[in-house]
Amino acid sequence: MRAPFVPPKGQLLKWIGSKQRFAAEICQTFPRDVRRYWEPFIGSASVCATFAPTNAVASDVLAPLVDIWRTLHDDLDQVSGWYAERWERLHTGDKVSNYYAMRAAYNASRGPADLLFLVRSCYGGVVRFARDGSMNTPCGIHRPIPPEEFRKRAQRWRERLQGVQFVHSDFEAMIDAAQHGDLVYCDPPYVDSQTALYGAQGFSLQRLFGAIDRARSRGVRVALSIDGSKRSGKKVCAVPTPPGLFETEREITVGRSMLRRFQMGGQTLEHEVVADRLLLTWKHLP
Ligand SMILES: C[S@@+](CC[C@H](N)C(=O)[O-])C[C@H]1O[C@@H](n2cnc3c(N)ncnc32)[C@H](O)[C@@H]1O
Repeated sequence: MRAPFVPPKGQLLKWIGSKQRFAAEICQTFPRDVRRYWEPFIGSASVCATFAPTNAVASDVLAPLVDIWRTLHDDLDQVSGWYAERWERLHTGDKVSNYYAMRAAYNASRGPADLLFLVRSCYGGVVRFARDGSMNTPCGIHRPIPPEEFRKRAQRWRERLQGVQFVHSDFEAMIDAAQHGDLVYCDPPYVDSQTALYGAQGFSLQRLFGAIDRARSRGVRVALSIDGSKRSGKKVCAVPTPPGLFETEREITVGRSMLRRFQMGGQTLEHEVVADRLLLTWKHLP
């Protein structure tokens, strides 16, 4: 029996679609004999940090996000300093106007240090981007975690990610680089609701299915998280997948949708249940 996977305690980055709560369940389906692990939609890195691979490449199309991970990997003091300096600035004078000044700074220069602080201090931890890539979430009402707590978390996450190389790239080139014996885990933007939120113009599900198919024929195993069903009133969306591409399907119930909660101005929708499907290109027996 395989030892259960445990995610690092406390999320480091808040991110829409984070798999933090389900990362252990997802990793449990991964094979043991992985040559190299690839995660081309890294986001908040919850699955990667839970799997803690010794030989891995993680990437994302959002350059400042990749810079955060690279800096965490290489220099704990720098990333902790970025956070501490902005935390002090937020709490010196008027919090709300300080937040908007930092958001404006991010939107002007797209720097990783500002993004790091915004993801922890924005409203509901729901980081949204407009089509031009500018970040547009209002100021959060919570108190962001203190710098000492941030540093402890950063240390924990960093230990899990030492075997990972972080690359700024569109997903397709990364999947195409995977070789026989490798494992690729894909967690793309939810087709139904998320594409615009990451400013991710370049994402297409058909392009992803094409890359997965090519990888599979090279002997690469691919796992894909994708919307299972999303019910709100009468609406149910299920994404069709090409026949024969996947051999195993699992349903993972992820609870109420944070995105909907945000759009409803903080109200909770009791009937909104979101289920993710985890699709594997290999046969996995529970
Ligand atoms: C659902 S999130 C991943 C969440 C991640 N599993 C986690 O636990 O936080 C999807 C990610 O895909 C990235 N993305 C969107 N389009 C992309 C593309 N064309 N190539 C690579 N990454 C892309 C987004 O920036 C976002 O970080």
